Amino acid sequence: MKTSTVLSHPNIAFIKYWGNRDNALRIPANGSISMNLASLETRTSVEANPEFQSDSLTLNGRKETGTALVRVQAFMDLLREMSGNPYFARVSSENNFPQSTGIASSASGFAALAAAGSKAFGLDLSEKELSMLARRGSGSASRSIPDGFVEWHAGKKDADSYAESIAPAEHWELWDCVAVVTDQPKKTGSTEGHLLAGTSPLQAARVQDAPRRLEICRNAILKKNFEALADIIELDSNLMHGVMMTSTPPLMYWSPKSLKIMQEVAKWRKKGIPAAYTLDAGPNVHVICTKEYADRVRARLEKIPGVARVLISGVGSGVQVLL
Ligand code: DP6
Repeated sequence: MKTSTVLSHPNIAFIKYWGNRDNALRIPANGSISMNLASLETRTSVEANPEFQSDSLTLNGRKETGTALVRVQAFMDLLREMSGNPYFARVSSENNFPQSTGIASSASGFAALAAAGSKAFGLDLSEKELSMLARRGSGSASRSIPDGFVEWHAGKKDADSYAESIAPAEHWELWDCVAVVTDQPKKTGSTEGHLLAGTSPLQAARVQDAPRRLEICRNAILKKNFEALADIIELDSNLMHGVMMTSTPPLMYWSPKSLKIMQEVAKWRKKGIPAAYTLDAGPNVHVICTKEYADRVRARLEKIPGVARVLISGVGSGVQVLL
């Protein structure tokens, strides 16, 4: 019997992952860049035990039986195959933030599961191998393994599709102020959404232009150039949502409230406040700003009608093994 406990953080993508070259292996159509979110946490424990008759999953204290369990079982099969260890596992995971609202719980969830699971199954994996493994559970989870600001190299096959840190968490004190407009789970999850990306006539152009956006974003982070970062992350978010809205069937993740917040943020930036918006597969708006402006941005967001609350976070570390 072996147990491991791991702490991980979700990440917010600056350059987005949307659509796969290989769905089974989660090899993405394009590379992506993100920052880990320090104050949002997932804690996951995995116990592998010869006495267990099947895998089990407890999420935030609730026993799961549906699709979440099936997804975790498939991931445990992968660990059994890699380790040659046939045991079943008991997985228990807790988040300190709401799930399924465009705040990527699958990213921190599978990053933690990869790290805790590999340890419980007796595997000693490098950061790169852990990132590749986490990717198989959820693509964006590959980016929650390394520290701080992270780039996921798209690659063409399993061995070259992994994420690595481009700058440590303390490199640049950026904050993410998440304007939560709903806690309702989204209707179409990312996994289903990725399958539709190729039906949009805009996806090919988005993917073709990705290396240029990645370079601008990487350089903006390295040089701490907020203006350049703001322009590229808003463009990239709009491009991804353009693809989503023009897929068959179309996916509309924005709500009228999301659009209102985006318009406000654009106005603030014109007035000199360093703030920029980005949205994942949900209506909540992530507003990225510099540390000095985080309190002001939060207060402004809270005043916008329809904003239920604002979560704020600085840049987080990679996955940490606690036990
Ligand atoms: C819009 O990593 O959640 O958040 O691999 O199917 O689990 P799966 O998808 P996921 O997709 C993330 C999509 C996104 C953009 C991003 O985080 O890059």
